[in-house]
Amino acid sequence: MSVKNAMTADFLRSAYGGESMAHMRYLIWGKMATEEGFPNIGKLFEAIAYAEQVHASNHFKEIGGTTADATVVAGAVFGPGKTVDNLQGAINGELHEVEQMYPVYLNAAEFQNESGAKRSFHFALEAEKIHADLFSQAQNSAREGKDMELESVYICPICGHTVLNDAPDKCPVCGAKKEMYKKF
Ligand code: FE2
Ligand code: FE2
Ligand code: FE2
Repeated sequence: MSVKNAMTADFLRSAYGGESMAHMRYLIWGKMATEEGFPNIGKLFEAIAYAEQVHASNHFKEIGGTTADATVVAGAVFGPGKTVDNLQGAINGELHEVEQMYPVYLNAAEFQNESGAKRSFHFALEAEKIHADLFSQAQNSAREGKDMELESVYICPICGHTVLNDAPDKCPVCGAKKEMYKKF
């Protein structure tokens, strides 16, 4: 599972950089949301931060044996704000991944017959669609000054699939069993 083509390798490094930053950013914003009086939105950020860690780890492994240094450019939002604004940053980032980044990377990996990268990009793309939607729900609540209603968040440790309140018997994206989901 080591990438062969330069273009897909670049895309894996870029995606690894983007996911790594999203992971950290969501941990920071999650803490801020909890401090602002939205513990459930804080929990959502924390859980999705873990999903982004899963994506970063998958991409990292697919880069495999290439040991060259790389400058990673990733679209990212910096800086703390109110939770409503942080959620907008999160929504924008997720939508960029859903509408442009991962479809383009996935197509390149398909074109170059990079099966490992394809799998890694596909897993991320499917999870980011859900993230964009969940962050929108959270933002609707925060706009009204209310916390999001949820009990727990479950993340698939293989692909990052994200679901509220109860894990499915089988992950719809990668097939992992219910017991494997990480609960937040
Ligand atoms: Fe991700
Ligand atoms: Fe995401
Ligand atoms: Fe999964």
